[in-house]
Amino acid sequence: MTQSDITVRRAVPEDCPVFAEIEAVSAEQPWNEAQLTEELSHDFAVLLAALRGEEVIGMLDMHLTGEAYINEISVRPDSRRLGAGEALLREAVRICADRDQSRIILDVRSRNSAARSLYEKAGFRELCTRRNMYADPEDDGVTYEMDLADPERKP
Ligand SMILES: CC(C)(COP(=O)(O)OP(=O)(O)OC[C@H]1O[C@@H](n2cnc3c(N)ncnc32)[C@H](O)[C@@H]1OP(=O)(O)O)[C@@H](O)C(=O)NCCC(=O)NCCS
Repeated sequence: MTQSDITVRRAVPEDCPVFAEIEAVSAEQPWNEAQLTEELSHDFAVLLAALRGEEVIGMLDMHLTGEAYINEISVRPDSRRLGAGEALLREAVRICADRDQSRIILDVRSRNSAARSLYEKAGFRELCTRRNMYADPEDDGVTYEMDLADPERKP
C-alpha cells in the first residue's frame, strides 16, 4: 500500500464501532461507540474517516464554531506512517477554509513527537505552551494554530 491508496471521506454512523476500536488502541482517553455516535449527531462537529482501500484505519474529529478545534486524530497502529494522518488533516483544513473558519487550533502533549511532527509538516505553527496541562504522566500541552486568513499559508 502507498499514500495513494489512502482516501478520506465524511464519517457515517456505521463507522463508529471501527472508530471506537481505533480509539481503544490509540487514544489516552478513548471515546466509546456511544460517545462517537453522539458526537456525529452534533451540527458543529465534523468527523472524518481515513480509508486504506476499503478499510477504515483512522479518524479525525473537530468542532467548527467560527474557529475550528481539532479534538482528536488517531490512526490504527498497524497502519501508521502511510500518510493517513496527513490526509485527514489536509481534508480538515480544506473543510475549515470552505466553511469560513478563521483558524484551526489544537492541543497536544509536548512529548507526543509523532503528532507534533505531523502538525508541523501540515503547516501548523506553535502558539503557546501550557505548563502541566496533562496528567498521568504529567506533561506540558502545546497549542498549535493554523491561521486560515494567512496569505502565506500553503494550500
Ligand atoms: C499522530 C498520528 C495520528 C499520525 O498518523 P500517521 O497516519 O502515522 O501519520 P502520517 O503517516 O500521515 O505521517 C505524516 C508525517 O507526520 C510525522 N510523523 C508521523 N508519525 C511519526 C513518528 N512516529 N515519528 C516522527 N514523525 C512522525 C512525519 O513528519 C510524517 O511524515 P513522513 O512519514 O513523510 O516522515 C498517529 O501516530 C496516531 O494515531 N497516534 C496516536 C494518537 C495520537 O497521539 N493522536 C494525536 C493526539 S493530539
